[in-house]
Amino acid sequence: MLLRQIHIQCVECGAQQSATEPVSVCAVCGGLFEIDLRLTPLDRGAFDRDTSGGKYFSGVWRYQPLLPRLPENSIVSRAEGRTAIYWDDRIAAYAGLPRVGLKHEGQNPTGSFKDRGMTVGVSHAKAVGARIVACASTGNTSASLASYAAAGGMQSLVIIPEGKIAGGKLAQSIAMGARIVQVEGDFDIALALLRQLTAKYPVYLVNSVNPFRLEGQKTIVIEMLEQLDWNPPDVIALPGGNLGNTAAFGKALHDLHAARLIDRIPRLMTIQAEGAAPFAHYFESGFDRYEPVKAETVATAIKIGDPASMQRARRAIQLTDGHVTSVTDDEILAAKSWIDRAGIGCEPASAASLAGVRKLVAAGVINRDATVVGILTGHLLKDADAVTGYHLGELGGAGRPNVNRPVSVEPTLDALERTLDDALSS
Ligand code: F0G
Repeated sequence: MLLRQIHIQCVECGAQQSATEPVSVCAVCGGLFEIDLRLTPLDRGAFDRDTSGGKYFSGVWRYQPLLPRLPENSIVSRAEGRTAIYWDDRIAAYAGLPRVGLKHEGQNPTGSFKDRGMTVGVSHAKAVGARIVACASTGNTSASLASYAAAGGMQSLVIIPEGKIAGGKLAQSIAMGARIVQVEGDFDIALALLRQLTAKYPVYLVNSVNPFRLEGQKTIVIEMLEQLDWNPPDVIALPGGNLGNTAAFGKALHDLHAARLIDRIPRLMTIQAEGAAPFAHYFESGFDRYEPVKAETVATAIKIGDPASMQRARRAIQLTDGHVTSVTDDEILAAKSWIDRAGIGCEPASAASLAGVRKLVAAGVINRDATVVGILTGHLLKDADAVTGYHLGELGGAGRPNVNRPVSVEPTLDALERTLDDALSS
């Protein structure tokens, strides 16, 4: 059977796990698993041969030679991936670079990059006969899971920190039929509780501790490199929360190199919010001292104090000679206002990428002639409250750029003409 040919091993102790069962964490040491694809060199045309016969139009499954092979009848796809890279002069000027690309993962079916991992995670869940799939979430994973579970005919269970996830994300999970459990406390508590639950009951865990999720998320980097004609940028910048994506990006670069599709490895730069930056502190200590924090940030997607993929992410940063830093909430919101104002738009956590690039260019960590691609992880509409809060002055501190306050006028042509005069003279 196909599943038996997938090699899964613990990154800490090397214990093997069979892919014929649900996969979460190592039963021997509690470490996280990784899938070893035993890659041999691939040619660049390998992805033009669509093995699904065009069935999925998926920007994940078209990279099948770089993914674990799952039974065809278990694939649950919503045509994820195939996202654009935007090159905008105003954004580049803001970053202090000649050119910056922003790859917009908010263009996925549920509006975040999570869909790329979810299609692989939920397909594996289906392949092993799972009936209930579950995650803890700051919002996007739960929205994505709700959609893919519905597509695959499974029940989804999501545990979220009560009152701490953005409205758009909660609405998606409710509408798409997830069983939603709100817990008093933060994301870290929700995930710890769910891990205890899934250890006891036949509930399939699809948080990014699950190695199948990471395999799907690798395709962000694979697709980006294909879009760049396999010329790696100097730097790839992304926001960091639970650090699954940082780990996935490291694995993608490792696998692409093993398959000889790239000969140079770009530097990964993970950007955290200052109030939720345990990984940045760990990096600053030379990966010597790690301490969880009590997380606080306006970017609720990355409000995580004890990231589950910390050690896998450390390896990704070390492999790529990467860098980790943090930015303030005001810096995140200012960067977001430029991305929004350029007509691109993103949710707050995504803007940490650009805020971090700007900071690292100013600090000389990124050269002024470097080619940089930042990842926008979620859609603007995910968090409408962050937009109104910023433009109406409740968020963002002094000197907010790009403030755009709606005006109210009496319903007369006169009043309307006065506002037109204002608009034309500004
Ligand atoms: N950006 C967005 C929009 C996210 O939703 C997340 C994570 C991240 C960045 C960080 O990615 O965790 O792989 O480092 N959201 C998770 C969730 C935790 O539950 O939706 P990471």
